Amino acid sequence: MSRPRRRELLTDAVARLREAGVASPEHDAAELLAHVLGTTRGALVLLDEVDPDRAAAYDALVTRRAAREPLQHLTGVAWFRHVELAVGPGVFVPRPETELLAGWAVERAAEVLVERGECVVLDLCTGSGAVAKSLADEVPGARVHAVELDPDAHAWAERNLAGTGVELRLGDMATAFEELVGTVDVLTCNPPYIPLEAWESVAPEARDHDPHLALFSGQDGLDALRVLERRAAVLLRGGGVVGAEHADVQGESAPAVFSGTGRWADVRDHRDLAGRARFLTARLARWAS
Ligand SMILES: C[S@@+](CC[C@H](N)C(=O)[O-])C[C@H]1O[C@@H](n2cnc3c(N)ncnc32)[C@H](O)[C@@H]1O
Repeated sequence: MSRPRRRELLTDAVARLREAGVASPEHDAAELLAHVLGTTRGALVLLDEVDPDRAAAYDALVTRRAAREPLQHLTGVAWFRHVELAVGPGVFVPRPETELLAGWAVERAAEVLVERGECVVLDLCTGSGAVAKSLADEVPGARVHAVELDPDAHAWAERNLAGTGVELRLGDMATAFEELVGTVDVLTCNPPYIPLEAWESVAPEARDHDPHLALFSGQDGLDALRVLERRAAVLLRGGGVVGAEHADVQGESAPAVFSGTGRWADVRDHRDLAGRARFLTARLARWAS
């Protein structure tokens, strides 16, 4: 019996994924085949034929991806800046756009470390631990802390942050890390920010597989950001900085949550390379009691 050919398997998988509405069919088809074969996407060209058992396993994964299971749930891995994260059901899959917020925080933390010889960093709503793990990886001298409310997500973060030196807690960002009040230099948060009414517009991968606590936040999507603003004003030292991701349509409303309180200086919004509003940053002008 002839063995399935790599090129035909890929062509068939791409067609099935495209038909199912998957956003990046070529990438995902190749990534899944590489996963099944225990190799990299780049090395697939070295193979002409695929073992029938592996081809069957591949077919099963393509069927699940076509049903819009997230690619990262199928491979069990997500890459974020320079770190690898274990992900699966129960935790928000980290997104490439959040790498911008993490990059901003890495630069600020490195600056503080040079200026003061120490730096306290806190990542609220840490999910898989992606931002906190990047900070620990790229700014090894910083003292990084992280908090997550959802016990299932916290368990994934515990796994991802083991051995990194990050202090992780299970808790609510509104009250966590009381002992850090007035001491944090750099605070990051990628909170839930989708308006409840936008439910139907969310891609099936997110709507059906990311935890709802990670996605939705009140009628205008800004409830968690309001909690963050109040808590950041308490946790940061005077002059400390906060960075928070938001939806691209919140490029004015999200910064306004900060600028409206009178507590913040240098409130500004940051765009990605495609010009989409992505995250806001602000500096604590005075310490809220
Ligand atoms: C959009 S996800 C971001 C996860 C991760 N920071 C990332 O960027 O991939 C938001 C996370 O915030 C958590 N969360 C929601 N409300 C929270 C709260 N009040 N306190 C702490 N974590 C919260 C959710 O469980 C979810 O893991």
